[in-house]
Amino acid sequence: MKKPCILMLVSICLMCVSGSGDLPAQGIFGNKVADTPHNLRKALNMGVADLGEICVYCHTPHNNNLQIDAPLWNRETPAGPYSMYDSPSIDMIIAGSATGVSLACLSCHDNSIALDQVINLPTSQFGQITLQGGTIAGCASFCHAIHNKTTFEGTVIGTDLSNDHPISITYDPSKDEKFNPATNGVIGILRLYGANKDQVECASCHNPHDNSNRPFLRMANDNSAMCLTCHDI
Ligand code: HEC
Ligand code: HEC
Ligand code: HEC
Ligand code: HEC
Repeated sequence: MKKPCILMLVSICLMCVSGSGDLPAQGIFGNKVADTPHNLRKALNMGVADLGEICVYCHTPHNNNLQIDAPLWNRETPAGPYSMYDSPSIDMIIAGSATGVSLACLSCHDNSIALDQVINLPTSQFGQITLQGGTIAGCASFCHAIHNKTTFEGTVIGTDLSNDHPISITYDPSKDEKFNPATNGVIGILRLYGANKDQVECASCHNPHDNSNRPFLRMANDNSAMCLTCHDI
């Protein structure tokens, strides 16, 4: 009697395993970029051109955009202009426009530059990618992609940042005692950016490669633990 029971259990388990593989929104919680929505190759029916690689939508090994403070950046600088956060209780200095690594995020999330509009297409894809203007053929060297699709749904921040948590703000607890100190540009495990390692930017709270703390948070925010890493309130 025991044997068939075990067999049944095993086959039920196998059914579960194969069943979960069929889930449509697979992997959006992964800790590898391939398993997250930042793998634009599986860009959720948004009409994004398949560039055959994953990193290429953001990074390029050569001729990258030096204006943006993200390594080997393969996207143009978004033009803005951005409306920045302001309120009477702000004590620290907010830049006049979005700066640093935030511009890397905004090069997709303000929805002004198409998701598949990169500076350098991967060589393997020359002549292969079909975009709105037709197939890109005969590229001898690096090619500028024309874009396929500008709009994307759900996660657009836009250029009006006045209703978002302040970014491009100089972290300075001496101006407001309700903040934890930063040591060498780091508060807990959260990082400050910029030449002086003192700017709160999108990437201070978000890790674009790892969605194990959805949505791309640097750490779990249970009981607002991430908020309280900076705020001492
Ligand atoms: C959706 C955009 C995006 C994709 C796709 C992406 N990255 Fe990044 N990457 C960024 C941004 C933004 C930064 C800068 C912010 C930071 O330091 O986390 C960065 C930083 C990095 C860094 C330096 C910081 C670190 O965490 O070590 C490395 C290395 C890197 N990326 C490698 C990769 C590789 C390899 C891939 C492909 C497997 C990849 N990235 C895919 C956006 C992306
Ligand atoms: C190459 C374009 C691109 C870049 C650059 C990019 N993103 Fe995204 N991001 C996307 C796409 C596409 C999605 C999924 C869109 C959707 O589902 O509506 C997404 C989703 C997200 C989400 C929601 C994830 C979830 O699980 O729901 C967050 C948060 C996010 N991005 C933050 C960032 C931050 C912060 C940066 C910069 C550090 C960044 N992104 C850079 C394209 C990009
Ligand atoms: C102070 C921390 C912090 C900063 C800075 C920050 N975010 Fe977020 N962001 C969060 C948290 C926390 C959530 C999740 C909110 C929730 O689930 O209610 C989130 C959610 C998101 C989402 C998904 C939800 C949505 O609005 O559709 C996107 C996309 C996103 N952030 C992008 C950005 C971009 C781009 C920047 C920079 C311009 C940025 N974030 C700056 C903390 C931050
Ligand atoms: C990386 C550090 C950091 C993290 C993480 C962070 N904040 Fe902040 N937050 C700041 C800074 C810096 C200011 C500006 C304070 C000032 O100028 O007085 C600020 C301001 C604020 C303000 C006040 C804005 C005003 O008008 O006075 C609120 C509310 C706030 N944050 C909420 C949150 C929440 C909620 C979270 C978590 C989802 C969070 N913050 C995460 C750094 C951070």
